[in-house]
Amino acid sequence: MKMDLAPAVTAALLFTAFHLQAAPAVSSGHGGAVATVSEQASQAALQILDQGGNAIDAAVAAAATLGVTDPFSCGVGGGGFMLIYSAADDKVISIDHRETAPAYFSPEVFKQDGVAMEWQDVVPTGISVGVPGTVLGWQEALTRYGTMNFEQLLAPAIKVAEDGFMLGENFNRISTINEGKFSRFSSASQLYLKDGKALPVGTHFRNPDLANTYREIAAGGARAFYEGDIAKDIVAAVNQPPVTSGTRVLTGSMALSDLKDYEVRVRQPIHSTYRGFDVYGMAPPSSGGIAIAQALNLLETFDLSTMSRAEVEHLYLEASRLAFADRNAYVADSEFTDVPVAGLLSKDYAKERAKLMGEKASAKREPGDPFLYQDDPSVPLRPSNATLGQESTHTTHLAVSDREGNVVAYTFTIEDWGGSGIVVPGRGFLLNNELTDFDFSAPHPNVAEAYKRPRSSMSPTIVLQDGKPAFTIGSPGGSTIITTVLQTLVNHIDLGMSLPDAVNAPRMSQRNGDTTLVETLLEFPGSDQASALEALGHRLAETDQIGAANGIIFNDDGTVTAVSESKRHGVGTALVQQQ
Ligand code: GLY
Repeated sequence: MKMDLAPAVTAALLFTAFHLQAAPAVSSGHGGAVATVSEQASQAALQILDQGGNAIDAAVAAAATLGVTDPFSCGVGGGGFMLIYSAADDKVISIDHRETAPAYFSPEVFKQDGVAMEWQDVVPTGISVGVPGTVLGWQEALTRYGTMNFEQLLAPAIKVAEDGFMLGENFNRISTINEGKFSRFSSASQLYLKDGKALPVGTHFRNPDLANTYREIAAGGARAFYEGDIAKDIVAAVNQPPVTSGTRVLTGSMALSDLKDYEVRVRQPIHSTYRGFDVYGMAPPSSGGIAIAQALNLLETFDLSTMSRAEVEHLYLEASRLAFADRNAYVADSEFTDVPVAGLLSKDYAKERAKLMGEKASAKREPGDPFLYQDDPSVPLRPSNATLGQESTHTTHLAVSDREGNVVAYTFTIEDWGGSGIVVPGRGFLLNNELTDFDFSAPHPNVAEAYKRPRSSMSPTIVLQDGKPAFTIGSPGGSTIITTVLQTLVNHIDLGMSLPDAVNAPRMSQRNGDTTLVETLLEFPGSDQASALEALGHRLAETDQIGAANGIIFNDDGTVTAVSESKRHGVGTALVQQQ
C-alpha cells in the first residue's frame, strides 16, 4: 500500500524548524531591549531599535506585529495603557487609550426584560464592542515621545501580515477554544477557521487585509482609522455583525461620531513607594496601579525579611485579598465616579487594614473605608456591590527599553481571547468586547455609561530606584494581571529572586474569593509549597496557567536583561541589541 506522507512530513519538519529556531526567553546585553510573547514582534522592535528608533517607536512596531501574530489577545480593534519613562524628562507618564462606551450606552443596554444579561451572552455581540483606542494611542505616544512615523513603524508588521508566518501551538490552542465564537461570524470563520475548525499547527497564515489596513494607517495616520472607510466598516460590523447563516446576535448602535470623537488621555501614573523603590503604575480607569500600591503598602507594615517563603506568600495572598475588596467596590473610570485614590493609597489606611492580616488565611473581606483617609473625608460615596465581576484572563504585555534610557511598559487588549469574535470584513482585525469589563448591575461605580471607560486590571509597571529605572514588569490575565505583577514584585524585592526566577516562579492569585487560583502547568498543586500554604488555611483551585509576563531589569553593572516567560503562553522572546 502506497501512502502519501508528504504533507504530514512537511508539517512535521516545519513544526520542528519552528521549535529549533525558538528565540531566547531571557537575554542580556548593553543595548536596547525588548520582551514580548511573539518572536516576530520582538524582532520588529529590535529592528526599529537597530535603525535608530527609540523605545516608544519600537513598542509601537512590536505592538503592531503582535496584532498580526497574537490577534486573539490584542490589535487595532482594542485599547490599552502605555506607561513611559522618558529619560529626557526624567518622568513617568501614561497614555490611556482604553476603549470607551459609545454615545448610545446606558446600563439598560446590558439588560433584557430588566434583568442583567449573562457575561458570556454579551461577549460575542455588537453591544460588547467599545470604541477602539489603540491607533490613536500609538499616534499620541509617537507624537509626544517617538522619533519615527507610522510608515516606518508599521512596515515590519505589514511584512509579517503580507508574507505570512507559521502558526504555532498557541495560535492553534486559542483558535480551537474560539471555534464556537468564530463560527458565529462569516468574516472570522473565513480568516481563522477551515471547515469550522481551527487552523492546524504548521499552517502558513497570511492576513493581507490587515496588511492593507496598516498601509492605510501608515499613509493617512490615525484619522484614516477614525474617520475614513475603516471607520465606516467598523460601525457597520458593530451595528450589523457579519453573521453566518442561521446565527442571530445582538447588534450595537455605534455612530461614526463615536469614532471621530474618540480621545486619548495622557494621565499621571499612580506613584507609591515600597522598601526604597518608587513604583509607578496605571491610574483609573485601570484598577491595577492602585491595587498593587495598596497591597504593597499592606506588606510594608511587616518585616518579611525574617519570614519563611510560605509566610511571605501567605501575607502576599492576604494583602491581595484586602486590595481586591476595595478595588471591587471603589475603582472605576474617575471621570465618572469619585474614586478615593488618596485614601486607598494612604500608608495610614494600610496600617489600619493590615491589622486584619493574621497568621491564618482569612475568609472573604468587606471593603474598608478609605474616605476617612482622603483630604476631604466628606465625600459620601458608599458603593453597595463589592463582588468580583467576570472577566477574561487574556490580553498581552510588552516591555521595551533603549540606549537613551527610555522605558515602555505596554499592556493592550481586545479583552476576551478573540474579543467579540467579529472580524471587520475586509479589514483583517477583530473587534474588542471590552464593554463586558463594566459591571452589569447598577448601582455601581463601574456601571456602563455613554463615553465611559470600563474598569481595567491592566498593570504596566515601571520601578525606579534612586531616581533611575530599576526594572519594569507587566502581564495579561484580566484581574489576575494585578496578582501576577504584585507577586513578581514580591518575589524579586522580598524573596530576593532574580527577575527571570521571579517571572518563572509558580503563580497564585487571590482576589477576595473563596479559593486561591494556582497553576497546573507549573506543577504547583501537590508541591511542598502548596502544602505549606494549605497548612495556613489557603484553599487552592487549579487552572492551567496564569498570565504571560514580560519585563526588563537594569543591572548594576550597566547591562540590561530582558525577561519573558519560559513556559507560559508558548515561550516568549526576549532580545537585547548587540550592535
Ligand atoms: N480586559 C482586561 C482588562 O482590561 O483588564
